[in-house]
Amino acid sequence: MSDIYPVKPGFAERARIDKAAYERDYAASVKDPEAFWGKAAERLDWYRKPTVIKDVSYDLADFHIRWFGDGELNASVNCLDRHLDARGDKTALIFEPDSPDSPARHVSYRELHERVCKLANALRELGVQKGDRVTIYLPMIVEAAVAMLACARIGAVHMVVFGGFAPNSIADRVGDCGARLIITADEGLRGGRKVPLKANVDAALKLPGTNTVETVLVVRHTGGAVDMQMPRDRWYDAVVDPQPAACEPERMNAEDPLFILYTSGSTGKPKGVLHTTGGYLLFAAYTHEAVFDLREDDVYWCTADVGWVTGHSYIVYGPLANGATSLIFEGVPNYPDFSRFWNVIDRHQVTIFYTAPTAIRALMREGEAPVKQASRASLRLLGSVGEPINPEAWRWYYDVVGDGRCPVVDTWWQTETGGILISPLPGAVDLKPGSATLPFFGVQPALVDAEGKRLEGATEGNLVLLDSWPGQMRTVYGDHQRFIDTYFKTYPGTYFTGDGCRRDEDGYYWITGRVDDVINVSGHRIGTAEVESALVLHPKVAEAAVVGFPHDIKGQGIYAYVTLVAGEVESDELLKELVAHVRKEIGPIASPDFLQWAPGLPKTRSGKIMRRILRKIAENAPDQLGDTSTLADPSVVDSLVKNRHGA
Ligand code: WT7
Repeated sequence: MSDIYPVKPGFAERARIDKAAYERDYAASVKDPEAFWGKAAERLDWYRKPTVIKDVSYDLADFHIRWFGDGELNASVNCLDRHLDARGDKTALIFEPDSPDSPARHVSYRELHERVCKLANALRELGVQKGDRVTIYLPMIVEAAVAMLACARIGAVHMVVFGGFAPNSIADRVGDCGARLIITADEGLRGGRKVPLKANVDAALKLPGTNTVETVLVVRHTGGAVDMQMPRDRWYDAVVDPQPAACEPERMNAEDPLFILYTSGSTGKPKGVLHTTGGYLLFAAYTHEAVFDLREDDVYWCTADVGWVTGHSYIVYGPLANGATSLIFEGVPNYPDFSRFWNVIDRHQVTIFYTAPTAIRALMREGEAPVKQASRASLRLLGSVGEPINPEAWRWYYDVVGDGRCPVVDTWWQTETGGILISPLPGAVDLKPGSATLPFFGVQPALVDAEGKRLEGATEGNLVLLDSWPGQMRTVYGDHQRFIDTYFKTYPGTYFTGDGCRRDEDGYYWITGRVDDVINVSGHRIGTAEVESALVLHPKVAEAAVVGFPHDIKGQGIYAYVTLVAGEVESDELLKELVAHVRKEIGPIASPDFLQWAPGLPKTRSGKIMRRILRKIAENAPDQLGDTSTLADPSVVDSLVKNRHGA
């Protein structure tokens, strides 16, 4: 029996959605999605109101997903123009710089509108047209949001690359989507350290497959020296500042692409997840308002990076579509010290705070003092996202950070889902530490066994979704078949999430983590196949197998088994070199925590690596290897067990 934190009466009284409203509207949303989402769509400003609401079939013979198919709108108009009358002077974005000694900045809706229009005009002048792809590789600065909205304004499809990715990863993504222009900065700044963004772009553009890029716009951020290669490279301010402050928005169909964002899967290279305009924006805005119980005077802070979907939906599109004040933080939680988050909350009187379990665990390790030296009295709601939150961290977040006053919304979703699918609504749903609780309106989770048989009642299985929701991804860019194969073939008639999940006696959902070969490191998805390909690119590596293992802070860590080419010698230097090699190929987030030499890997007689066994060894549970009799050479296991890191 888990403990329950009932909705506080005081919170429920003022909340947008109470228990009765949630139950009533959820039932209605599932019974008649057309009526429910047709009404919900009224929250957006449309040039042409949609009359066809939902047009979806998961049937492989006639597969399609369309929402609001005849509607027309512009996302930047919905995030900016329509707020100008009532909220022109309201702060849209608060910029909190890396260093607390640098000034914070407030950007009003009016100023943001102007900055977006100017960049949009500049992009048009540079030849960017509706449908063209634009890569954004920026630090967490206001220009990141400006760049996304400027693309949306002219119908260009943005593709944001996380600033922590290395040149190879940039090049793969730029090449895959055929970007025409890149917006970057001279350097980023994180925890007092400089990140050579422009130099990384230069290195990426030397790699094959990137010659679609005509222009690189460079924001002067740190003022650090960079190589400008003319005429390709242009200073952002020189091109943007002289532009007119108004820009005619492009009329977009609801199903026109808004952005592409790459995410790791269990096989192959990262997939370009494509989201479209109407359904995505509506879903981001609606979930943001309902899950965070948004009020006009809230100061809302999501600590994610815009390089991930959380930054897209819940720093930029959702909050701005709702006319909210959204804080953009350039820095890191431990710089200049471990009280930074809490000081920022006090400094800007943040009311809603949304972060990841990995950050909570890292801060929890530092004890209560760094938290308690800040007041945090402005806070009224806390959120968690990215990976399962362990009940201990949940309670610390609730008791210490929120002083037992603030509900915690544990929000489950994915890059593919565009927005939150399972989460408590804080005025409606009693909380249980570690559970994402109940589905959002219109979302129908179900659990199936390995054969796809529906499991009822309190049980555990694979999490699928029985029907579509407006924020669902529409395709894998350039590979529609991969989209269908990845998500709709495993359990026909449903969308397969890739997550395992338990449902308890109250119908609450408890996500248990990925059931595929995806590792969730600090809330970031890393494909084991990607790390393996990076390792085997090294000339001394013959073969590599990568698995996840439980990690106290990161949730999961990366454990790599490496077999060297015959004649190469295992050494600590080579080990370090291989870890550095992965960082260089993919980026620091993919660095293996442990690397173990493997004279041989456990394989079946048909040559398939048995990851189940490697996972158990990495978990330091050699007594749970299970059946090893189908291995071609069972003796390789003994040596791996003997030399494992936990031994
Ligand atoms: C995977 C999606 C959603 C934005 C950030 C990550 C895991 C995400 C939770 C949560 C348990 C969670 C799942 C999911 N995940 N949120 N609240 N509880 N697990 O997006 O990179 O697409 O990763 O993150 O395993 O499938 P993403």
